[in-house]
Amino acid sequence: MSDEKKYYPSKAFQEKAYIKSMEEYQKIYDASIKNPEEFWKEVAKDITWFKPYTSVFEWEDKEKYLYSWFKNGKLNVSYNCLDKHLEKNAEKIALIFQGEEESNVKKYTYKQLHLEVSRFANVLKKHGIKKGDRVSIYMPMIPEFLISLLACARIGAIHSVVFAGYSTQTTKERIEFAKSKMLITADGSLRAGKKINFKEEVSKAIEDIKDIEKILVVKNIDIPLTLKENEYIYQEEVKSLDILDTCEPEEMDSEDPLFILFNSGTVEKPKGTLHTNAGYLVYTKETFKYIFNYHQDDVYWCTADIGWITGHSYLVYGPLANAATVLMYEGIPTFPDNETYWRIIEKHKVNIFYTAPTVIRSLMRYGTDPVKKHDLSSLKLLGSVGEPINPEAWVWYYENIGKSNCPIVDTWWQTESGGFLIAPFPGAFPLKPGFATKPFFGIDADVLREDGSKADVNEPGSVVIKKPWPGMMRTIYGEHQKYLDIYISKYPGYYFCGDRGKIDEDGYFFIIGRMDDVIKVSGHRLGSAEIESALVSNKNVGEAAVVPFPHEIKGQALYAFVILRAGINPSEDLVKELREHVAKEIGPIAKPDKIQFVDSLPKTSSGKIIRRILRAIAYDSEDYGDLSTLYNPEVIEKIKSKKI
Ligand code: WTA
Repeated sequence: MSDEKKYYPSKAFQEKAYIKSMEEYQKIYDASIKNPEEFWKEVAKDITWFKPYTSVFEWEDKEKYLYSWFKNGKLNVSYNCLDKHLEKNAEKIALIFQGEEESNVKKYTYKQLHLEVSRFANVLKKHGIKKGDRVSIYMPMIPEFLISLLACARIGAIHSVVFAGYSTQTTKERIEFAKSKMLITADGSLRAGKKINFKEEVSKAIEDIKDIEKILVVKNIDIPLTLKENEYIYQEEVKSLDILDTCEPEEMDSEDPLFILFNSGTVEKPKGTLHTNAGYLVYTKETFKYIFNYHQDDVYWCTADIGWITGHSYLVYGPLANAATVLMYEGIPTFPDNETYWRIIEKHKVNIFYTAPTVIRSLMRYGTDPVKKHDLSSLKLLGSVGEPINPEAWVWYYENIGKSNCPIVDTWWQTESGGFLIAPFPGAFPLKPGFATKPFFGIDADVLREDGSKADVNEPGSVVIKKPWPGMMRTIYGEHQKYLDIYISKYPGYYFCGDRGKIDEDGYFFIIGRMDDVIKVSGHRLGSAEIESALVSNKNVGEAAVVPFPHEIKGQALYAFVILRAGINPSEDLVKELREHVAKEIGPIAKPDKIQFVDSLPKTSSGKIIRRILRAIAYDSEDYGDLSTLYNPEVIEKIKSKKI
């Protein structure tokens, strides 16, 4: 074993753990790799199938990386998240909603949630939504957000959620790509005490999208609302007499699509990650249970917005498939004050708390006084997701929030993976800050060199996974070739995830960060190309390149190098204008923190920008990589001399 400090689970925790030792993990893991079909077959027994599947895993076309999990099986995901629990858990709380206003609390038992989802599904049906139709969802963090996803799943409609922090332009693109027939939104919401008008924003986004036939608006706050033709208020619709309290779940094929979720990657346009019914359900269910060590009385809180994959998999599907009690919070961690999260943990006696490193870092700034005011003794387990957690934040989280008594599960995964790929089994693994540790059952992960050979111990390389797992994305919606190019072709026989990592002498994975042009700002995934294209759409900008730089709170922030058009002079006002412009085009999360005006950018002779050089400059590193293809070497010193 390596000699870094390790953190062991307490005896009491271990006793209640599903997996109690490294040996036990290793035994199950080895078997799951040797015979994945046997392993997943056992797991799938926990799912209610309307009709049994005929094979656990089958390649349909290996060249094209097309395969089936649980082929020909028929099931319904919402049935497995709701109806299935009615026999034993009808009166158990499924959802605790905590609004931004402290007194705004709503609790739904499984029975009530089942009823709400059935009604919502019936409203969708009444408005012509059928199996296979796409429905875009643009919602604040209110219960109807979660309900609308499950309602789509119930009738076989494919939901496509757009994160509500995106601007109208980005939202429009994502709705257009999905070719959605309906949009579900809310009139507005409270954000840090201010009323935000959702409906108006989103109406602008879809003005000229022909595919959208109807808009369904959930009334949430007291805000003026004007409806046009084909726009409906959910609360009015659900009151109508023909909306029944029950809705037969649609029989879905295992490989029918469940949802599309757009994310940013190396390409300018967003990619629609497509997930299917059975594999995704099986995978999120199993990973949730083991990694969070979920037991039936636990209250689990995931702070992620449902608009991201973490919300989809570990606020909605994974926990509900396990009949868990999930807490959902409407607001942000620093409003009305910096004790908000700790107050919520105390008030609702949260046992499992899952958040992002950026949240920890931003709350660490206020010291431990705000934490000490609250009784956090209900906590048993902490989780981290979205970006590497720096050891300092890890230790602070462990000591001050977990009181040195709660394991931290650092969960490494992606929109593409559906669920956790590498994460600690908390009762079995000694933890090392910053290490996501070992792969989940059935995940054959490795680190490879550029030439495809296996990297040595502690040698950084590409993190790859051999063979598909049930929760793996099936394609980029409508662009299968792009899917193959990005994920499959680089290392034949492996899925390439885009991350750089290394494996240490304990066999623990350490994830270093992205190898491509994906930038994680406060855990949110952004693509440099998208931000660059927003910048050049401003009339003053000729060219732009965007790279990350290290940021104390956000992990990474955005550094934009901008060439202005001829005759335009750099100024502070222009910096402000460009930041606002990006916020308007993409959303406030994409505002560059630094904008440096330059005369030229490092390029190859064919004119391609070499971003890794800019990244090195932004990181104050001299590690530029191979400079042999750099056409204009003098540019490095020039840019460096004016670095912000
Ligand atoms: C990064 C979020 C280090 C990684 C679930 C990955 C992490 C990308 C971790 C996916 C972690 C996520 N440690 N890095 N625990 N979790 N990442 O699609 O670079 O928003 O490829 O999914 O986030 O981001 P996405």
